[in-house]
Amino acid sequence: MVSKKLMGFMVACLAVPAIAAQGQAADVVSLDHGIRVQDAGQVMEVTALRDDVVRVRVWPAGKEPEDASWAVLPESLHSSSEVTAQKGGFATAKLRVTVGPDLALTVLDKEGHVLQQDAEPIEHRGKDFRIYKKLSSDDHFFGLGDKPGPLDRRGEAFTMWNTDHFGWQESSDPLYKDIPFFLQLRQGRTIGVFFNNTYRSFFDFGRELPSEYSFGATDGPIDYFLMYGPTPKQVLADYAWLTGPTPLPPLWSLGFQQSRYSYSPESELMEVARRMRADRIPCDVLWLDIDFQKDNMPFTTDPERFPHFPQMVKQLAADQYKLVVITDLHIARKPGIGYKPYDSGVAGDEFVKLPDGSTYVGDVWPGPAVFPDFTQERTLQWWGTLFREFVDDGVAGFWNDMDEPAVFNTPTKTMPDDVQHRIAMPGFAKRTTNHLEIHNVYGMLNSEGTYDGLLALRPDERPFVMTRATFAGGQRYAVTWTGDNSSTWNHLRMTTPQLLNLGLSGFSMAGADVGGFAGSPPPDLLTKWIEVAAFQPIDRDHSAKGTRRHEVWVDGPVQEAIRRRFIEERYKLLPYLYTTAEETSRSGVPLMRPLFVEFPGATADGHPIDLDAGDSEFMVGDDLLVAPNPSPEEIAPYEVHLPPGTWYDFWTGERFERAANGEAVDLEQRDKLKAVVALTVKPVLEQLPVYVRGGSIVPMEPLTQSTEQVPDGPLTLRVYPAADAAAPCSGEVYSDDGHSFAYRQGEFARVEFSCARAKDGSVSVRIGPQMGRFKPWWRSYRIELYGERSGHEGGRGDQSKAEGSDGALMTTTVAANPAGQTVRFGSKR
Ligand code: GLC
Repeated sequence: MVSKKLMGFMVACLAVPAIAAQGQAADVVSLDHGIRVQDAGQVMEVTALRDDVVRVRVWPAGKEPEDASWAVLPESLHSSSEVTAQKGGFATAKLRVTVGPDLALTVLDKEGHVLQQDAEPIEHRGKDFRIYKKLSSDDHFFGLGDKPGPLDRRGEAFTMWNTDHFGWQESSDPLYKDIPFFLQLRQGRTIGVFFNNTYRSFFDFGRELPSEYSFGATDGPIDYFLMYGPTPKQVLADYAWLTGPTPLPPLWSLGFQQSRYSYSPESELMEVARRMRADRIPCDVLWLDIDFQKDNMPFTTDPERFPHFPQMVKQLAADQYKLVVITDLHIARKPGIGYKPYDSGVAGDEFVKLPDGSTYVGDVWPGPAVFPDFTQERTLQWWGTLFREFVDDGVAGFWNDMDEPAVFNTPTKTMPDDVQHRIAMPGFAKRTTNHLEIHNVYGMLNSEGTYDGLLALRPDERPFVMTRATFAGGQRYAVTWTGDNSSTWNHLRMTTPQLLNLGLSGFSMAGADVGGFAGSPPPDLLTKWIEVAAFQPIDRDHSAKGTRRHEVWVDGPVQEAIRRRFIEERYKLLPYLYTTAEETSRSGVPLMRPLFVEFPGATADGHPIDLDAGDSEFMVGDDLLVAPNPSPEEIAPYEVHLPPGTWYDFWTGERFERAANGEAVDLEQRDKLKAVVALTVKPVLEQLPVYVRGGSIVPMEPLTQSTEQVPDGPLTLRVYPAADAAAPCSGEVYSDDGHSFAYRQGEFARVEFSCARAKDGSVSVRIGPQMGRFKPWWRSYRIELYGERSGHEGGRGDQSKAEGSDGALMTTTVAANPAGQTVRFGSKR
């Protein structure tokens, strides 16, 4: 189980005779895996965990802090890599590290490019400290979780203190999550920094000082990890190695999800379920918010409004719906009424206390409530048992909300600072600490308890947990969403940079309430939101009490038809989405990603190309580029910035060539225009520009109404060759049973595809042999070739038949051969 941290552990870097660095810090000791320097009463230790990951720790001489982390996986925390001692520092195969006077740290790549350099000595003010780094004019910063605002964090400053913020706006900070990890892009070279500190912390990317960036905290260890790319993908892989990747989610969680605060009574939920199917809106998941509970008491159901709860869950399952229910962590303080979560929690001494030893009580939805002490391993285990009845009833997933934790009746809207946590967890010294240290990890520990509990109760099912608050590493246990956003055009716009930065922070499975939580979206806004969200990882329509209803049909048949079409497109793309999600679980590269992750060299000076498009474009997987309007309420045309290369319109198959000089060329128009034209898009309500990278093969499936329904027909391979015949052309499909862990024992199917163009213009599509033992649902492939204008020749021995020949698109269908096959499209040119 990845969640368990080992006891405080000294990095295995034994001291060896010092190599004194001349003109360097006073006291330098070379270690097997790094260097230890003492200067002006402080010790700095820099060690290599791998040749591209170094860890920096600083402490007052004689007071070495506990070596522990809530975020870093034990096996990563304790890894080490050999280094070569050098004057005042060391080198790994990829990095050079030097420590100068005043513990001034510099990290360079092998070619001598400075990746990071201290700007001043570490600043201390009581327990508060701050680390300053030099900022160059072309540094760009990404990550830091759910912070709203521009994609690039440069020029911004942030506070990490998990906060329930109903109706947050663009400048709201702090917000729900603390993910103290960022990427820095400097002239095409990327590093990542993870700050291993759970106290209230600060990040300033040149807001205060134009030539420095900084991070620090009010207390806790000076401890950070530096990861080197140079590509963004390598840094994301390093971070996934350090804190764990987003695991493979159940397939159904990639389906459309419908929620509201709250569907109640039971008949209301069942009516939504019925209407969805009647209107042919594909949907996999329905959500129950707090009003299904008795008096808002977590882990209860209201017997009056939900009189047939287990039967209801069964009925939903029969209609191919998964049910997710809210299970907030605040346990109602209701002694003597047989409320098990409270009674068993008191009996086991599971709740947090005040310094005087009394149990802390705070008001939340059920009124006075008590709060589990998730820093105790046994409390996590107890928490996990609370899910038993719901699991027995067949509830598929769980929603951990309010876990910042939110408290209504305190000035800080959370627990008082002096609430006590009794840490008793593998990897940590047993000790009691106050809430200031634990606050930012409380939500993550809540999801860890839920995740592990579900695994214990249902060992063969991938747990689905959604949390609002979290910390770095929380992606191991839960998906997340952006909390209480608003039904405005600007909030729709903000979903893109926010979800992109969450993805870069480890949370690939993230979504924003579709339509906005607070407020009532006008019909066009809801439609546009449904369109964009169809391409975002978690597609959940959710809305607040008292607002206008949000379901797909509420604005009449014309709007409904547009919305349905986009949700349908998502379902057709499920093979591509699921294949990408599986890749994420190994690579750490998120499903939804900025353009610079795929095209780090798209601009001449190495700046991220995303910045040219006003933060509005995003990639889904390697190959799809979605380009919503950067001003979504605006009717004027807008420019789409495509990275250099061949692109296809996903909807029409039209091909574009984007020259390296930054302009787009419509190939059909090129000869007539004799000059390149920019790709300009006129906003239309029922359209969302989506492009496909030339050189890709995108797997799609016949439409279903839920992921449980077996698609009827072939797996479609959309083949999009690049204009440059020498450029690679490939794709892949991954499949398994969609919900269990059998894939880890080889019960999966993976098939790789490639395409190549011969000199005579013919294109051959290679379908590789199936890897893995799982028998996928498809028996045949329908191959659609884009961008070509010629006929099709049958492949070797495949029962191929040409279905279309003269248009821009040629298609053929072949029976699937698990041993692999090649299909050739001949040229008539
Ligand atoms: C919080 C959540 C919201 C939920 C509500 C009631 O505001 O963010 O999604 O609907 O609580 O549970």
